[in-house]
Amino acid sequence: RLDVMESFQDIAFPGHLHTQETLRDAPNFRFQDTDTLIATYPKSGTTWMQEILTLTLNQGDDTVSRTVPNWARAPWLEQYYFPHVVKMMREPRIITTHLPYHLLAPALRDSKVKVIYVARNPKDIAVSFYHFHKMANFLPEPGSFDQFLDCFLEGTVSYGSWFEHVKGWTTQTSKSIFYITYEEMWLDLRGSLERISAFLQCPLGAEQISNAQKHCSFNRMKENPMVNYSTVSSDIMDHSKGQFMRKGKIGDWRNMFTEEQNRRFEEVFSSKMVGSHLKFIWE
Ligand code: PPS
Repeated sequence: RLDVMESFQDIAFPGHLHTQETLRDAPNFRFQDTDTLIATYPKSGTTWMQEILTLTLNQGDDTVSRTVPNWARAPWLEQYYFPHVVKMMREPRIITTHLPYHLLAPALRDSKVKVIYVARNPKDIAVSFYHFHKMANFLPEPGSFDQFLDCFLEGTVSYGSWFEHVKGWTTQTSKSIFYITYEEMWLDLRGSLERISAFLQCPLGAEQISNAQKHCSFNRMKENPMVNYSTVSSDIMDHSKGQFMRKGKIGDWRNMFTEEQNRRFEEVFSSKMVGSHLKFIWE
């Protein structure tokens, strides 16, 4: 069966992509100084950032974006194919991870890798993740949205607790971690591209930024088979049950949450995020 989970340190990871060995080996990875690491909880804007970085490092040119699948040009370091893919990558490399900070920390400790952490309003993540569970056959059946929301709030969904993930990554004080939210990118993509390219010390001219902006728009990415997962076989992702590039909106949770679910969410959010300075744009 495709949806068997690999439990590692009390977190369930899809067994289709992870093994005990790959998860155990992740913190031993040796980053190069020129690497950029994208760290995200699932459904936070990972693929978008993979596209943004590809375009930034290629001065706005979309040849690589159009010809190389995202998992080959920005592979997840904890997934089973990583050792084979990384051997073929040239500098500067883009690497992705969904791991919580504590499962990767030793690899980051003495490295100069630049990290970009993308966070997203967790209500929208819950909705996006729910729809993704329905189409991704390597994730368990989510049941009703109400049941899924309970698991999300308890942190028993795959990849673990969203709360622990954001708290783990956003409480680091390193200057080599750049924080951005999905909502900031959505509301001001150009400004976000400028900030990202400055952080990467990869300055782009006005026209290069315009090209990058155009190529990483939702509509462009939705049509790009290298990022929209349309090339993945239907036994792995059932395209009749939904699309990976689903809506690409902020505030879609309003179409899904009942008032009661929203209350339940807010209650858990305020108790788990007590003391956190993180601010989200909710709509
Ligand atoms: S994954 O499976 O963890 O890699 O998913 P991830 O890429 O993090 O998140 C998928 C959601 O991001 C939306 N998306 C975008 N939104 C706006 N603009 C662009 N360019 C873009 N690219 C991807 C995608 O549609 C998923 O969100 P939802 O809300 O489900 O539409």
